Amino acid sequence: MDMKFYAFDSFEGMPKSKGIDSVDNIYQFVEGQYACTEEHFKDSIEKNDVNLNKVELVPGWFEDTLTEKTKDKLKIKKASVIWVDCDLYASTVPVLEFITQYLQNGTIICFDDWFSFLGNPNRGEQKAFYEWIKKYSHIKCIDYHTFGKWGKSFIVSLS
Ligand SMILES: C[S@@+](CC[C@H](N)C(=O)[O-])C[C@H]1O[C@@H](n2cnc3c(N)ncnc32)[C@H](O)[C@@H]1O
Repeated sequence: MDMKFYAFDSFEGMPKSKGIDSVDNIYQFVEGQYACTEEHFKDSIEKNDVNLNKVELVPGWFEDTLTEKTKDKLKIKKASVIWVDCDLYASTVPVLEFITQYLQNGTIICFDDWFSFLGNPNRGEQKAFYEWIKKYSHIKCIDYHTFGKWGKSFIVSLS
């Protein structure tokens, strides 16, 4: 199977938290946190035996990159595995909207920060997820694994 990997990230670290993502001091993510250059990222995955020819980087803020123009350019068919690792509610909303058309039965979605914000379903990735599945009733997400400290994954079933 000819599989490709697409890596969407600002490469400038976290955006400034706003709205629901900034309502308390304890769980604020700091602007610029996790910044990593594209070169460092590529070096790092190459050292872990990833074939760079199979990886396409899409650098930039999601509001600029998760667009119809990007879809036309990338020509992604369907997704096998989607890793959502952007912590914030405001960042997860456009991610879920973007991936919707690439889902198929069996797509695995991993939320790296599912249990952030003390596991509060009204914050972060969980809030975005619950709003998204309410909007797209044909998407069922079957509980799969929990992983690490904060992660949870689902298997997609479409009706
Ligand atoms: C916890 S880090 C994870 C990075 C990477 N997945 C890893 O495991 O090393 C969260 C990442 O989300 C990215 N991010 C969060 N909100 C974003 C947004 N609105 N647009 C682009 N990138 C965003 C940040 O740049 C940051 O690199």
